[in-house]
Amino acid sequence: MQVRLTNDAPSHVRTGALVVPFFSDSSLEGVAKEIDAKLGGVIADALAAKEIQGRLGEHVLVYAKDEPYRRVLAISLGERSRFEPYFLARYAGSAVRYLGRRNVEQIAISLPIQAQGQEVACASFVSEGAITGVFETTLYQEKPDRRNVATEVTVIAGDLNEAELERGIARGTALGDAVNLARRLAITPSNLMTPTRLAEEAAKVAEQNGLEIDVLDEARASREGMGSFLSVAQGSAQPPKFIVMRYTGDPSSKELLALVGKGITFDTGGISIKPAERMEDMKYDMSGGAGVIAAMYAIAKLKPKLNVVGIVPATENMPGGKATKPGDIVTAMNGKTIEVINTDAEGRLILADALCYANKLGATKIVDAATLTGACVIALGHASSAAVTNDDAFAAQFLAAAKPTGERYWQMPYYEDYTSAMKSDIADLKNTGGRPAGTLTAAAFLREFVDKTPWVHLDIAGTAYLDTDSPWLAKGPTGTPVRALLALVESLAGQPLIADGSVVSSNGARSSELKV
Ligand code: BES
Ligand code: MN
Ligand code: ZN
Repeated sequence: MQVRLTNDAPSHVRTGALVVPFFSDSSLEGVAKEIDAKLGGVIADALAAKEIQGRLGEHVLVYAKDEPYRRVLAISLGERSRFEPYFLARYAGSAVRYLGRRNVEQIAISLPIQAQGQEVACASFVSEGAITGVFETTLYQEKPDRRNVATEVTVIAGDLNEAELERGIARGTALGDAVNLARRLAITPSNLMTPTRLAEEAAKVAEQNGLEIDVLDEARASREGMGSFLSVAQGSAQPPKFIVMRYTGDPSSKELLALVGKGITFDTGGISIKPAERMEDMKYDMSGGAGVIAAMYAIAKLKPKLNVVGIVPATENMPGGKATKPGDIVTAMNGKTIEVINTDAEGRLILADALCYANKLGATKIVDAATLTGACVIALGHASSAAVTNDDAFAAQFLAAAKPTGERYWQMPYYEDYTSAMKSDIADLKNTGGRPAGTLTAAAFLREFVDKTPWVHLDIAGTAYLDTDSPWLAKGPTGTPVRALLALVESLAGQPLIADGSVVSSNGARSSELKV
């Protein structure tokens, strides 16, 4: 989908539908007020009649037969005092989903008056939301039962700064396309999205966008000493692939951010096999890896001044005659030995070698993202991902960068108790630490492979995919953690578009408060 800017006056825009925002607890303003006046107050009437409650994403549709815009869709931004720029992604997403399903191809979206002075962020969110809103999960239906025809979204410039809006649209387009890429990789089932296919997809992204790529096959991974990664792969008929993508945005700097993503293309549990109920969801067990490949795509498009390497260890976790068995001992790249108590705790085994490899490549900061533990879903549900760190200052920077994106991360503690729980009687470590604090013992295990490098671990088991539709996003894969990874990269590059709940414009001026 294309997002463009227009400087046509709102009342003159020729389109299938004009989208205007309103707050549930105040009267119409800006473009909404102007258009409502033209239509004789029908929108204000509908709102006064309480046709809707006014929660974010709720809407009222009115027809404007003789106007160039044909229809007006008024969408709620919720309560005025609670407004945050990322709501505009949900606003735009709700618009394209509602209209696109009703065969409206062209949509013109207006921004609220709060966009003044925050054009980059607001245009970015609208573009991201529009692009991610049209994505449907019916990729593999011959005649899709949900079809979204919205192909052209125009952002109405009005009195806003056009250059800033254009920058925001470019960012939001790169991010929205990246999020949809991650979602497509994740939703594609494991018979199609094999480790080999995932590596091909990464190679395509790299070739088309000027990234370096290196894919280690089993023999090379073995020469690197990746015994932990390969122990997970050995039960599968599919060859493992260890994917490394590189972006050099600051050649003179020694700083290198490593983004590491779990790439289990299917998790049966291995010999410690999972129950059949909902096992099909385990095609999503490469969501962290998909997120890293997609983040590298957005980084390649937007070219921040920072060096970034994306690392995705990719394999299936299968039972079989060659599979790792409980009690087996394997050796990771850093020489640490691991007693495999439960072959279903495989994510940490592949990440162990990936974290070592990040350090070998000279990473000065590491973020990993993984659908790692069911315990995380018990702790936080589907409302938030968990974050665990060995460096509170780096975690604080990550959390501050992530917050305005709308993706949620909740920091959980590290205590030595969790490391103690991972000690084996026979090897250096074991791969499970019992039921208590399963997310944190898993993080403590990973920490053993990070060394001293500042590191944040993201457990996205509860947030990478959802069972429920929202007005702005189809159910299924959500694209978490792509938005937060891009925001972190921009923050580290000293080019935050949105920081700490405030917004930075291109001249570096920061408005510490939202204008309301
Ligand atoms: N991929 C799963 C974690 C998971 C569960 C993700 C549910 C999304 C939804 C992971 O590999 C796993 O099986 N973890 C085990 C670890 C246990 C054996 C220590 C778990 O959480 O049960
Ligand atoms: Mn598992
Ligand atoms: Zn898994």
